[in-house]
Amino acid sequence: MENINILLWISRSLHIAAVIVTIGGAAFLRFALLPGAKQALEEEPHQRLREAVRKRWAHIVRAGIALLLVTGTINFIILAVPPKIDAIPYHPIFGMKLLAAFGVFMIASALVGKSPAFAKLRRNERTWLNVLLALAAVIILLSGLLSQVRGAHSTAVDRPEPTTTEVVSP
Ligand code: HEM
Repeated sequence: MENINILLWISRSLHIAAVIVTIGGAAFLRFALLPGAKQALEEEPHQRLREAVRKRWAHIVRAGIALLLVTGTINFIILAVPPKIDAIPYHPIFGMKLLAAFGVFMIASALVGKSPAFAKLRRNERTWLNVLLALAAVIILLSGLLSQVRGAHSTAVDRPEPTTTEVVSP
């Protein structure tokens, strides 16, 4: 029990909760709300619904990005700064995850924002949500890999060293 790191526990839980809400929300938008609204509504009410949803969803997306950045940084500092782990192969995989995460953050922000520079991207919302979800799938695969390569080489805080008794006894 004394080996439990409360900060890591909370940070990991918030990280995963933010992933569930933001990526789950994007999947709901792409596969249920967008096609459903398009099928059921005329153009004018459809556009009004899109704008109302965009406004509300923008708050969740921005809070989710902030939470992922803060909790991700805490996770990294607690789990993955050498000498706790071997930098190779963890850090290159983490670099790929971070690049993909910035891609997700950029697409998500552009879709809920109002900048004229991204108006074309918003007109192709379905395609860009597909790209976002594909990147999110890659990130989730890479995160699972990170956890495994860290586990294989680490003496990290969540994997305590064996005690003397454990080492000596057969
Ligand atoms: C769309 C963005 C992101 C997604 C979908 C995502 C997803 C995940 C998932 C599913 C885990 C596994 C949790 C676990 O097994 O404990 C995880 C862990 C982690 N994430 Fe993220 N994450 C994202 C963004 C970030 C960012 C921006 C950072 C860094 C600033 C970050 C840093 C970490 C770290 C260090 C871990 C622990 C990996 C390990 O077990 O060694 N994540 N993330």
